Amino acid sequence: MARVYEAIPIAEGFYWVGAVDWGLRDFHGYATHRGTTYNSYLMTTPSGRNVVFDGVKEPFVDVMLSRIASVVDPASVDVVVSNHAEMDHSGGLPGLCTALSPSRILASQAGVRNLSMQLEGFGGVTAVGDGETVDLGGEQVVFMETRMLHWPDSMFSYLPSRRILVSQDAFGMHLASAGLFAHRVGRELLREEAGRYYANILLPYSTLVTKLLSKVAAAGLTLDIIAPDHGPVWVEGRDPGPSFITGLYREWAAQRPTRKAVISFDTMWKSTEMMASSIAEGLEAGGANPVVLPLHGSHRSDVASELLEAGALILGTPTINNNIFPTVADLVAYLRGLRRQNLVGAAFGSYGWSGEGVKQLSAAMAEMKIDLLHPGLSIQFRPDGSTLSACRELGSAIAARLAAGEA
Ligand code: FEO
Repeated sequence: MARVYEAIPIAEGFYWVGAVDWGLRDFHGYATHRGTTYNSYLMTTPSGRNVVFDGVKEPFVDVMLSRIASVVDPASVDVVVSNHAEMDHSGGLPGLCTALSPSRILASQAGVRNLSMQLEGFGGVTAVGDGETVDLGGEQVVFMETRMLHWPDSMFSYLPSRRILVSQDAFGMHLASAGLFAHRVGRELLREEAGRYYANILLPYSTLVTKLLSKVAAAGLTLDIIAPDHGPVWVEGRDPGPSFITGLYREWAAQRPTRKAVISFDTMWKSTEMMASSIAEGLEAGGANPVVLPLHGSHRSDVASELLEAGALILGTPTINNNIFPTVADLVAYLRGLRRQNLVGAAFGSYGWSGEGVKQLSAAMAEMKIDLLHPGLSIQFRPDGSTLSACRELGSAIAARLAAGEA
């Protein structure tokens, strides 16, 4: 294998051998404004029977092989561990395993099933159990199932001798960078991109995140390094280190409401937009922090990201052919799946003929278990002074509820 790319050393005998995808702007419906990385790791062992943790997206297999070849003879890779069988990691496994011919491929029980179904002719994967310790080339590796974080097959690999946690998607983010380490990235950017990742990928499983953090603490695992499958690696003793991201996960998993209120809407003739502005004014006057995201300029995943640390969701729609406006319906479908808890909110909008949009939107928001503070503020054609005043009152009422929730 040609040595074009270099591995990056992380710790003694532990290297990053992944790939940077600078141009990625969409990850199954989530806008990745800053690209991503597919992180794979090489552990060298005293026996010379080396281990690779996780693959890369299929087009990047040659990059990965090249990085491995910068450290060891690729033929020395004896074991490939698949911590997560989503295609951005498992898609490259056939090419990788064809090139490396490992004697074993390890995955969780569900990982074995998923790999056999998604990769035709790709058999021979061995299951490891939750809490099982396996000797790989003279190095102990402990496997910990993290079912539904965020797939049924997900698991962690922990390397006790190096105190390294290979955490697959958990504690990661979509952030392409030439530097591998979190302490080389500003805290604000880390918080923003890790938050976007949590909001768009992990949020529905927040209860499991809380349990997992307790399980890791109870197991007494020392985390000198957290090596996720996307974005920067967290190193203890550097700022920010592993406790920065585990602390943020604890906070985000709790989904405590704040005074931030997210207003998102689309508009046909600016009437619904006028209503959004007045609701924002009412929120502001009431001491809340409105964030206004028109859907003709904002991506659904930007709304989800803003919602992570919010207390209210206020959605606006015109009515088109007796229905919610398509971009708003798209947003609702996306947010419904993310199952954000502890929100108050309301629906609003203008219509021309019949006005079903706001009623349908209110019903959808109620289904999402949003505590609706208004049955749906719906007006025909252009809002006048009194309807805009009603919008401001709605904003103030929501602000008051958010303030009461903080008390
Ligand atoms: Fe990075 Fe769930 O795949």
